Formats: sequence, structure tokens, C-alpha cells
Amino acid sequence: MSSLVAPSILASDFSRLGEEVASVTAAGADWIHCDVMDGDFVPNISFGSVIVDAAGRHTHLPLDVHLMIQRPDRYLEQFLRVKGAASVTSHLEANHDAGITLDRTRAVGKKAGLSIKPGTPLDQARPLFGRFDILLIMTVEPGFGGQAFIPEMLPKIRKAAQLREDLGLGFQIEVDGGITVETAALCRDAGADVMVAGTSVFKAADRAAEILALKG
Ligand code: DX5
Ligand code: ZN
Repeated sequence: MSSLVAPSILASDFSRLGEEVASVTAAGADWIHCDVMDGDFVPNISFGSVIVDAAGRHTHLPLDVHLMIQRPDRYLEQFLRVKGAASVTSHLEANHDAGITLDRTRAVGKKAGLSIKPGTPLDQARPLFGRFDILLIMTVEPGFGGQAFIPEMLPKIRKAAQLREDLGLGFQIEVDGGITVETAALCRDAGADVMVAGTSVFKAADRAAEILALKG
């Protein structure tokens, strides 16, 4: 089955954000991935809900919001209010009680996502299975675009796909970090459904061809 592709605007030219979002929309993207960083949970600062909202005004595609912020419950409502935000994902490691964040996100009719860093075993997310719509498996340390894919994450993806089947659940498995045509194929084979791709899409000479190749 072909994958969904979610270009990360972190790798776009922010001085032309609207054009960049429109460009990947026209090039066949499925979702627009928005990386929110607070300089606390991760050692980098990107943008907040105002920019996510601005990006949404240049596409009809779902905005896939990835919160890399400490205690995301403090800012959750701001992101839930963004009209185009179809999914809001936060980190297991950053939450005081991730279940509350997930439940609140679903309660307003959006997809609830749970993300885990490379060093966090899947087992730590086990108690929350059934309460999220997206499991975002980080395939690099969160904080920066342009890093190399960590191949040791492939068994984690496989295990998540197996558990999903065993438990009869329907969540989507999303991978994020170092995704290229080659690593996307590995992740797809392991059971991932959604490919986040920053550098590979935005730096491609032909974005439409790149997105098509990432879909597999
Ligand atoms: C990393 C972000 C990623 C990043 C992906 O913290 O969550 O979404 O932008 O960028 P690439 O595809 O360049 O690795
Ligand atoms: Zn991301």
C-alpha cells in the first residue's frame, strides 16, 4: 500500500511560507507537517500557533501539528483552535499526563497523536494504546531537520504494527526524521503509514517527483 506524505515546513523558506505550502500542496502532499519547538523540550525554537494558522491559509490539506514542547497541556487549546489543524501530536516524554492531552484532542474532533523519542521504548506507550489515532515514531532525535535516519528504529515500527494488529486497533504509524526515498521504503515495509519529510521534499529539484517516490 502506498504511504501518505507529510512535508515538514521546518525545511521550507519561511520568508515565503505561503508559496512553499502551496507548492507542496500542488506537488501531491497529503498532510502538511508543522514542527513546533519550544527551546526546552528540544534545544531549538521554531514557531507557534500563529504560524501554523498562517500555513493553513495556503492549503486545503490537513495540518499535522507536532508539538515538541514541555507540558503541551499548557498550550494545547491554542493549537486545537487552529481551524486547519486536523491532528495534534505531543510527546509522551513531555506530558504530565499524556492521556488527558489525547482525550482532550479527540474531544474537539481532531486526531490525537502520541510521539516517542528514539530512546523511549514502545512499551512505555502501551498503557495509552486505544487512546490515540496516530503513533509518531521519531527516527531522529527531535529538534532539528536534516539529520540521518536511525535504522535501529525499524524494529520499533515493526513492533508497533504488530501490536496494532494484535490489539485490533486502527491508529496510523507515522515516522519523522531522516526520511528519504530509501528510508521511506524501509519504514513502509516495517508497517509505517505516514512519512514526514522535510529536507528531502523541500530541497528536491522536482518536489512532485520526490513526493511520488516517497509514497512508494
Ligand atoms: C525533527 C522534526 C522533523 C524534521 C524532519 O525534530 O520533528 O519533522 O523537520 O526533517 P528532515 O526530514 O529534514 O529530517
Ligand atoms: Zn516533526
